[in-house]
Amino acid sequence: MINIAVLGYGTVGSGVVEVIEKNKEVIDRRAGEALYVKYILDLRDFPGDAYEDRIVHDFRIILNDPEVSIICETMGGLEPALTFSMQALKAGKSVCTSNKELVASHGAELIATARQNRCNYLFEASVGGGIPVIRPLNVALTAERIELIDGILNGTTNYILTKMAQEGTDFEVCLKEAQEKGYAERNPEADVEGYDACRKIAILASLMTGKTVRYEEIYTEGITKVTKEDFLYAKKMGLFIKLLASVRYEAGAYYAMVAPFLVGEDNPLHSVNDVFNAIFIRGNTLGDSMYYGRGAGKLPTASAVVSDVIDCAKHGRKHIICLWEKEKQPLSDIGGACRRFFVRAKEGSEEEVRRLFGRMARVDAGVPGEFGFLTEPMTEREFGEKAEALEGFVGRLRVDA
Ligand code: HSE
Repeated sequence: MINIAVLGYGTVGSGVVEVIEKNKEVIDRRAGEALYVKYILDLRDFPGDAYEDRIVHDFRIILNDPEVSIICETMGGLEPALTFSMQALKAGKSVCTSNKELVASHGAELIATARQNRCNYLFEASVGGGIPVIRPLNVALTAERIELIDGILNGTTNYILTKMAQEGTDFEVCLKEAQEKGYAERNPEADVEGYDACRKIAILASLMTGKTVRYEEIYTEGITKVTKEDFLYAKKMGLFIKLLASVRYEAGAYYAMVAPFLVGEDNPLHSVNDVFNAIFIRGNTLGDSMYYGRGAGKLPTASAVVSDVIDCAKHGRKHIICLWEKEKQPLSDIGGACRRFFVRAKEGSEEEVRRLFGRMARVDAGVPGEFGFLTEPMTEREFGEKAEALEGFVGRLRVDA
């Protein structure tokens, strides 16, 4: 029997317990031994809960129990999750986590600590919820030089953008629905401002480069400035608005960013809707591959945590190699990244637009007092200068089409 402990009995933690119970037969067979949830750490008591007798409030009970060999850290946040995870790994107990904040900021040192102590720090659930993407990067794509990762990595914002596009529903109403369905972070700012997607792309970028891509250095823009008028223009142009998190290797440099983009039908991410996430990966010999599934929610995320538990159970005290060093991977300034932009400008500013941007095809979406146009490809820096000089400027979106 393999004894495990769950840290945090919230949405994901209770999902872990539920998945282990629901799929007990297959899980135990695949793990090679029966899994048993011996402890659940939480500040709260859960009177009447089927696992009430396993609740503990002191992490030392878990740490000092030699029978516990695998810990699921589903607390979220940096502390005390970092301290508990480090202590567990130093005691030779493997840790499986859904905590993207912790993985993004301390992934390299947690993996190194696991290596030194012949156990594992696994984090499949930290990116894309239930979608297997960490394991493909660490196992199936190791023969590739990864050139590009583009992802829809946040279920809450994808849900909101989908509803806004399909139903013209108000931003606040959609956010509330996403919160009720258990997709959103406790602080919804992390979702809507793009911080959550930023941490997730930092994790994928670190696995892509084998070094630490610091999330603080990734240019991040959320969806709070996307308006219903933007959707009118997108519809008129046959384009879709998606919050993309992306890392690219171009001419010896890495670029990473999170921002809302207009994407076309030729981009396979255009049809990823609702809470679904998808990750598009291009390798130099494989070409394109894509990973799709539920990017948030209790059971999908818990399923990924439990898959890591099974992996740990199968490997015992053997460390599973994961190349992610502490050394920092520098990112290039996105000012040099080249793309097209969609601009909204005040009616009457056509001449000014032509003087600054050259030839342009006007897009009218029935928005009073303004029109839109697509620019030619130019660098972010060049666009920024022109947009600032445009007196009739109303707004802009980046274009990936
Ligand atoms: N708030 C996150 C999302 C949860 O909406 O994608 C999964 O990380």
